Amino acid sequence: MKQAPKHPVRLERQGNVALVVIDNPPVNALGVSVRLGIAAALNAALADDKTDAIIIAANGRTFPVGADIREFDMAPQEPSLGQLCSLVESARKPVIAAIQGTALGGGLELAMAAHYRVSAKTARMGLPELLLGILPGAGGTQRLPRLIGPELALDMMLTGNQVSAEIAAEIGLVDLVAEDDLRVEAVTYASTVKKPRPTSEHRAHLLDGAGYMAAVAARRARVKAELGANALAPLKIVNCVESALLLPIETGLQVERSAFEECVTSRESKGLRHAFFAERAAAKFPEAAEAKPAQVERVAIIGGGLMGSGIAIAALQSGLAVTLVELDEHGVNSALERIGAHYERSIAKGRLSEAQGAAALTHLQLTNKLDLIGEADLVIEAVAENFELKANLLADIAVFAKSEAVIATNTSYLDLAALAEATGRPEDTIGLHFFAPAQANKLVEVGVHDDASAQAVMTALGFARALGKTAVRAHVHNGFGEGYIGNSILEAYRHAADIMLEDGATPSQIDGAMREFGFRLGPYQIADMSGLDIAYARRQLKPRSPDARYVEIADKMVEQGWLGQKSGRGYYIYTGGHHMGVPNGDVLKMIAEHRAHKGIVPRKFSDRDIRDRILLAIVNAGARLLGEGVAARPSDIDAVMVHGFGYPRSRGGPMMDADATTPSIIASRLSVLAPEDPSLWGAAPVLTMLANERQKFADLNTV
Ligand code: 3HC
Repeated sequence: MKQAPKHPVRLERQGNVALVVIDNPPVNALGVSVRLGIAAALNAALADDKTDAIIIAANGRTFPVGADIREFDMAPQEPSLGQLCSLVESARKPVIAAIQGTALGGGLELAMAAHYRVSAKTARMGLPELLLGILPGAGGTQRLPRLIGPELALDMMLTGNQVSAEIAAEIGLVDLVAEDDLRVEAVTYASTVKKPRPTSEHRAHLLDGAGYMAAVAARRARVKAELGANALAPLKIVNCVESALLLPIETGLQVERSAFEECVTSRESKGLRHAFFAERAAAKFPEAAEAKPAQVERVAIIGGGLMGSGIAIAALQSGLAVTLVELDEHGVNSALERIGAHYERSIAKGRLSEAQGAAALTHLQLTNKLDLIGEADLVIEAVAENFELKANLLADIAVFAKSEAVIATNTSYLDLAALAEATGRPEDTIGLHFFAPAQANKLVEVGVHDDASAQAVMTALGFARALGKTAVRAHVHNGFGEGYIGNSILEAYRHAADIMLEDGATPSQIDGAMREFGFRLGPYQIADMSGLDIAYARRQLKPRSPDARYVEIADKMVEQGWLGQKSGRGYYIYTGGHHMGVPNGDVLKMIAEHRAHKGIVPRKFSDRDIRDRILLAIVNAGARLLGEGVAARPSDIDAVMVHGFGYPRSRGGPMMDADATTPSIIASRLSVLAPEDPSLWGAAPVLTMLANERQKFADLNTV
């Protein structure tokens, strides 16, 4: 854990203007030492006769980005951020906030408690608390509507979207956008303001009470319709904004405080905060101690299918130059069509302007000549999942790639070390496993084998981060880590579901139970979407464990040609305009015959049974990956499941859920199920260890 700086706030002076300068890298979070420092500096400036005005400014890349989220689970320490904001607002001398970078959450609330706001041209402002399952708790719900009116305030708080300095000036959130040097212009501005102007006294937006109440009522109805009547933080935000009109500010602040306290202790907020830190912890690779990422300016991708094109789009979106290589002219044309169609859709949906789309495409070089990859800093092969094909291609790539280039394979489950060996440059070769659709899915697994150099690993990590992905390291070694983290867990998940299918549940019941839990799609919907032939091919390659129960249902479907969406029939039927599909009666019939053939008498599973068994399988598979050293920390598994597989973010992830149940209860439930299939339900050693020691997965999280 980082040590808080000794003096995170300094008091400086320029003529008659005092500057309270926050210096708490990396993001100037408003932890207790910063709050104490600001209060002390403010009081000193107020007591000083030579000071006429006070500026709150920050060093480094940003104005405070919020409260220190790590303190939310600790005992409160005074002054609270709310108390500090009240102190600022009640100052007898004018206080001006000088905003640069991103003023977010409590940072923006501090700025709104100041009497005036000057912002850098490039600054952005937002209240993203909702994304953490909470609401602005330091006066934001009371001051923002006073400054910009209820509708815009609700927009900002209910989306978490940031506004630019230009927009902030237009809507009345900032008073001046500095043309050049923020600090200099803020000091000049401070010398022009004569007296405090507390935000709580802004009345302009409160005068039309009926209009204000109509805006609040409309938003409340919309939140209920879109998110349900139990949407905790969103509805509390609406209530607080209503209070801003109806109650004196002191009482409105109390209403906000108690709403904040209720939200911050909710399971949802704990889950969302866990997910926030899990993403950041995952990016901490041990190789960072040895090497820095090399700059990737051009990436070459071999294979322009769905995956390769998706990676190309993700790279173009991040401003990188891309060389996309296909086998022949036909392949080149199909890749071009696929990428072109993506840009057309984005332009039609208003996500991109035509000019932006055209500009991105100028950075794309599409070719069927492999020798053109020579300028790329990173070369990724993204061809079909076939060892021979990939190994031969990787050997060719090694011939044409420049000597400093990193080579990556997008394999999902083939032998990574053997593929790396095929290049003759194993130290430069790494796994980069994207998930479809690669332009949108946030997860990338970085597959690290024992011969990979720290430089190659860090470059691959840097590339994934430059694409805005959550990168998670999977250590592939000594026969462990095939399927990395995500697909290994998915396999256990699918197997648990298949056992229930064989024993009496239906695909739509299992899918429904998992959707109810919070997944967007159930396992059989995903199987239909991915194509049943893919998993079938993998099963043919994989040796079967002698103690594993084998469920033949999916194999029988492939043999019938029921491959899922691509063939119009899978667990569901997709013809007749049913986008989501309707249950396939032939599959249900085949399953019934299959059970009869195996002598299985079908039994009932409740939705709860289904959910519990699937979660047990996921957690046990996760614990196994920890024991094998494939996953470094439990929170990495949570990040993979949330980003790659749609595990509900508000639950934090499966390992966080497991801690809530406790490892010892999980171990005892597994022991009951073990006779059914020891390969699936036999408790992983890490789980048994935690159960015996009365510990939790969180105790294994290291950063
Ligand atoms: N509290 C504590 N730590 C924080 C933090 C916060 N509010 N925001 C960021 N950090 C930490 C990160 O954990 C990370 O730590 P690490 O180096 O040890 O991993 C470090 O700061 C840098 O963060 P990022 O890696 O995320 O840096 P980026 O440059 O990619 O992103 C950011 C910067 C956009 C500011 C992003 O960190 C972010 O979105 N932060 C959260 C902002 C937020 O939600 N603010 C509201 C907080 S709640 C609040 O203010 C309540 C109030 O209303 C009472």
